Amino acid sequence: MKTVNVAIMGLGTVGGGTYDILTQNRDYIKRTQGVDIAVKRVLDRDRERVLGRGVSPSVFTDNIENVVSDSSISIVIETMGGVEPAKSFIIKSLESGKSVVTANKELIAKHWHELERCAKAHGAGLYFEASCVGGVPVIRTLTESMQANRVCELYGIINGTTNYILTKMTEEGLSYETALREAQQLGYAEFNPSADVDGFDAMYKLSILSSLAFHTSVPYTSVYREGITRVTAGDIKCARDLGYVIKLLAIGRRNGDKIEARVHPTFVPVDHPLASVRGAFNAVLLTGDFVDDIMLYGRGAGARPTGSAIVSDVVFCAKRTEHEYTDFGISDKAGEDVDSSGDFTSKYYISLTAFDRAGVLSAVSKVLAGYGVSISTVLQKGSGGETANITFLTHEAGEKSVSAALAEIEKLEYVRSVDSLIRCL
Ligand code: NAP
Ligand code: HSE
Repeated sequence: MKTVNVAIMGLGTVGGGTYDILTQNRDYIKRTQGVDIAVKRVLDRDRERVLGRGVSPSVFTDNIENVVSDSSISIVIETMGGVEPAKSFIIKSLESGKSVVTANKELIAKHWHELERCAKAHGAGLYFEASCVGGVPVIRTLTESMQANRVCELYGIINGTTNYILTKMTEEGLSYETALREAQQLGYAEFNPSADVDGFDAMYKLSILSSLAFHTSVPYTSVYREGITRVTAGDIKCARDLGYVIKLLAIGRRNGDKIEARVHPTFVPVDHPLASVRGAFNAVLLTGDFVDDIMLYGRGAGARPTGSAIVSDVVFCAKRTEHEYTDFGISDKAGEDVDSSGDFTSKYYISLTAFDRAGVLSAVSKVLAGYGVSISTVLQKGSGGETANITFLTHEAGEKSVSAALAEIEKLEYVRSVDSLIRCL
């Protein structure tokens, strides 16, 4: 039987989960997959912590040269995170003919095509299932199971930390800070929490997923991004009263001959399949022109689920005699069909505070109408003082029209503040 030696670079949450699977399930993988995967090297900077996990001292290294110069290692697993030195270590590995499996969505979103070109030049593979949606095999589904279809739409909850926070705030009334701390303790959060709560993590993942779904290069810089930090307990309550839950959605869509990609908090109707995705669970709803809807659901973060995706890539790679490359980032026209204008259409939830005077509602409605924004629902609640909270749900409208209308509304005499603007599904 073929033995494939691997190195793991970075034995933290995901690297640790990967090590556990490769050691605990080694015989099972051997028996069921016909390939024996052996961990030959573990690279990290903290020797004591690594040895404390049961790794033999002869396997530990803190020097990348001990990985790349070892010709018996054919697959390198990168679970360190960040751009550097992960990128240089990956390039060194590819240049020495080793295939690379990584969970690093930031690195793939920023340097995919450079890494892919390097892999191709050296006949090595580059695999990154674990970079998107944790243990859920969404990349393999897009690349190996959707060939018959033009993907029309992709809607996803693709960040476990923010879904955990929003679920805890909605269901248990936890504060944002407490829920974030819990997500960090559970190993879901990125090193810098801004990556999760400000939507960067979901933006990188959506750039990768929509590139694969729509067979074009969707640069992460073309993805509209808004995080969850401005979502208030009041918005969550109002959503519930109106029959919605708030989720951080990643949306990739074909809109005519353009592709649009955006990440933002969204009102999702309670009976929509994505509304029931709770905690650190993730889901992606794909629509193909022939297959119709497919929904993939599972744990989007954490050591074991993400380790599972890494090991699946390792086995996939180990069994291949030739590697495949996407190539779509290489043409000069790559990304030309991506709409970076940010002027998409949506329904909206708008919440504002106004002085409770006659004519306020009609003044606000008049401005919205002037920009072609049609109202579907209005709720007004007095605060008991001299102000009232007014909430609008709109019909489909253009993003730029809504922004222009709100800028004008904010200047109206009796409007104190425009407090929230959240898109609705
Ligand atoms: P982590 O727990 O911080 O693990 C990273 C490990 O790599 C740590 O042991 C770290 O050591 C080590 N490391 C970092 N830089 C190094 C360097 N220059 N030389 C040697 N060792 C180094 O991070 P993680 O949560 O496992 O995430 C790793 C990657 O997986 C990231 O790209 C992340 O986006 C991705 N990912 C994470 C999850 C998840 O649920 N956590 C899910 C999917 C994908 P120190 O602790 O000393 O820095
Ligand atoms: N921080 C990420 C999340 C890890 O919360 O989804 C998985 O990519």
